[in-house]
Amino acid sequence: MNNSNSQELAVPCLLDAVDLHKSYKTSKQVLNVLSGTHLKLNTGEMLGVIGASGVGKSTLLHVLGGLDRPESGKVLFRGEDIFAKGNGYLDKFRNQSVGFVFQFFNLLSDFTALENAMFPALIARVDEKESRDRAEQLLVQMGLKDRLLHKPSELSGGESQRVALARGLINKPDLLLADEPTGNLDKKASDSLIELIQSLNSEHQQTVVIVTHSQRIASKMDRVMELTGGLINPVEKSLII
Ligand SMILES: Nc1ncnc2c1ncn2[C@@H]1O[C@H](COP(=O)(O)OP(=O)(O)O)[C@@H](O)[C@H]1O
Ligand SMILES: [Mg+2]
Repeated sequence: MNNSNSQELAVPCLLDAVDLHKSYKTSKQVLNVLSGTHLKLNTGEMLGVIGASGVGKSTLLHVLGGLDRPESGKVLFRGEDIFAKGNGYLDKFRNQSVGFVFQFFNLLSDFTALENAMFPALIARVDEKESRDRAEQLLVQMGLKDRLLHKPSELSGGESQRVALARGLINKPDLLLADEPTGNLDKKASDSLIELIQSLNSEHQQTVVIVTHSQRIASKMDRVMELTGGLINPVEKSLII
């Protein structure tokens, strides 16, 4: 192979987490959760993150998404140090560049599926009609055409998570961070959620990080890393199937 075009073929780095340190201090002890963690995400890739319960997967995802500050280290998003900029930047980054999906859906119980999915767009000052149209289009794409006006208590777990996914995607983020998104779903609903995320990823080249307990789901990602002892290391996919 000729290497002269390797420059052209290089996939741009979307996010570069450098030497992250984060600990929790309680009255009794200091718990080191991230101890010099490095992670690079390429634009358009899907990364699975595995690791034992309590090892710091949620903490890592929160730091990558700007929800939590590390004690030291940097998160560079398109080369910008997200924690070194003013709060206005961080708010906008969280609202518009990143979409979050959580294990327990975190939908607002008094609002419909459509309203829940619309909120981040309204916060981003997208006008109401456009926000509603985008939310409706995403929910329809997710097979929820007949559930638009249902409240969370009137939705199944799989449906609730698809509403949460629509909410996470409404501002067309470059990065989707999903924290055990299938943790409360049965196998069928899990598979259909992951298929949906995979098809959105191939359609829009959205970069995706999925934290999961499921080796089966992790093995469907382009790349798998394991968080252990505060560090994240690559895992050979063939070893986890
Ligand atoms: N706010 C906090 N204060 C003290 N300890 C915390 C706090 N948040 C998380 N922890 C502890 O830090 C460790 C990592 O938590 P977490 O990132 O939620 O792990 P995981 O998502 O891998 O289960 C756990 O042992 C947890 O109990
Ligand atoms: Mg967690």
